[in-house]
Amino acid sequence: MKEYKIETVVRIYELAELSEEERELVEAAMMATNGSYAPYSKFLVGAAARLQDGTIVTGANQENAAYPSGLCAERTALFAAGAHHPDQPVVALAVAARKGRQFMARPISPCGACRQVISGVEERYGVPIRILLYGTEGVLVSEGIKPLLPLCFVDEDMR
Ligand code: THU
Repeated sequence: MKEYKIETVVRIYELAELSEEERELVEAAMMATNGSYAPYSKFLVGAAARLQDGTIVTGANQENAAYPSGLCAERTALFAAGAHHPDQPVVALAVAARKGRQFMARPISPCGACRQVISGVEERYGVPIRILLYGTEGVLVSEGIKPLLPLCFVDEDMR
């Protein structure tokens, strides 16, 4: 038997500690919650992807009466980025969520499917995506998806 220990390092920053560009991305994610369509959960999520050329592409969760047919904010943003700017790597992704007007205190935590898609986008361009998860208590920052998705399935696993 062999044991592997997997260490995850993430950092929590105050908004003021982020760079201006990062703050702009977090604010874009907060603004993107206005595009949420969440009549079922009433949980309004926004995501903002920064592309290598500086462009910001946003998305918001879109729900459906057939619940699994809806899509999270992160994937809405990443798929829009891929569809509209296929040649531009995504270098950062910010996510924010609110109920009513109040943003969540704890940083929003992307679901497993979104983590897998973030991993896929990193693979696609060979560029790690800096992840900024906003909460009023602080912004959780992960240097790429790997700390949030250890032992993940990648295309290499199929070869
Ligand atoms: N949701 C997101 O859009 N992103 C997350 O990181 C977590 C969950 C959405 C999916 C659904 O519309 C609602 O939040 C409740 O799960």
